[in-house]
Amino acid sequence: MQDSLHSADYKRALRRELRRRRQSLSPREQHQAASRLCQQLKRLPEIRRARRLSLYLPMMGEIDPTPLIPWLRRRGVSIYLPVLRPFSTNTLWFVAYHHATPMIKNRFGINEPATRFAAKRQHRLPAWALDTLIVPLVGFDAQANRMGMGGGFYDRSLAFMRRPGPKPTLLGVAHDCQQVDTLPIEPWDIALSAVVSDKQIIRPKTF
Ligand SMILES: Nc1ncnc2c1ncn2[C@@H]1O[C@H](COP(=O)(O)OP(=O)(O)O)[C@@H](O)[C@H]1O
Ligand SMILES: [Mg+2]
Repeated sequence: MQDSLHSADYKRALRRELRRRRQSLSPREQHQAASRLCQQLKRLPEIRRARRLSLYLPMMGEIDPTPLIPWLRRRGVSIYLPVLRPFSTNTLWFVAYHHATPMIKNRFGINEPATRFAAKRQHRLPAWALDTLIVPLVGFDAQANRMGMGGGFYDRSLAFMRRPGPKPTLLGVAHDCQQVDTLPIEPWDIALSAVVSDKQIIRPKTF
């Protein structure tokens, strides 16, 4: 109990510091980081194999994966966006993102697919039906461990990864300045396949 309390305090302070770091990047630095990130992503075998992929629209200084979209569309990849699933369990739905997807501004002022569109079953997929997820993060370490915003949304939505069955590729993406030496990892944290920043690709080492 004592340990988990310390860890929660430590994580809160670390999140604050790392969010400050990425929000202090200038628009020019943001733009350059996004294009470097997308160059790295285009080279990854996992991305080149992808057929059903989710990515996110950036907010609060998150690195922007959207310059990848035209390239993905040319390759015929179906693109999905995470939407907080209404009336439930703090999990995510993945909603089809194409020219006909109506977008609304959420409470952070960020565009997301309109609820009435997302609510239709034919417009969305559960996480296990995607082959590749591009996942935002607040912090990462040299083992490709991930720390999110603190809501545990991806951990909850990806909990199926612990059971036998489909295992989509999980690619965390971030600014290089979001790296720390080691992150506290908890039993519910879901491991990433790799973290890709504007400067490097980190894969977990297997011992
Ligand atoms: N599979 C899960 N089932 C239930 N609660 C979960 C699950 N995964 C994470 N959580 C809860 O979400 C909260 C935030 O998790 P944490 O890993 O600290 O956040 P984040 O991954 O956003 O950094 C924790 O209190 C944890 O108990
Ligand atoms: Mg977590």
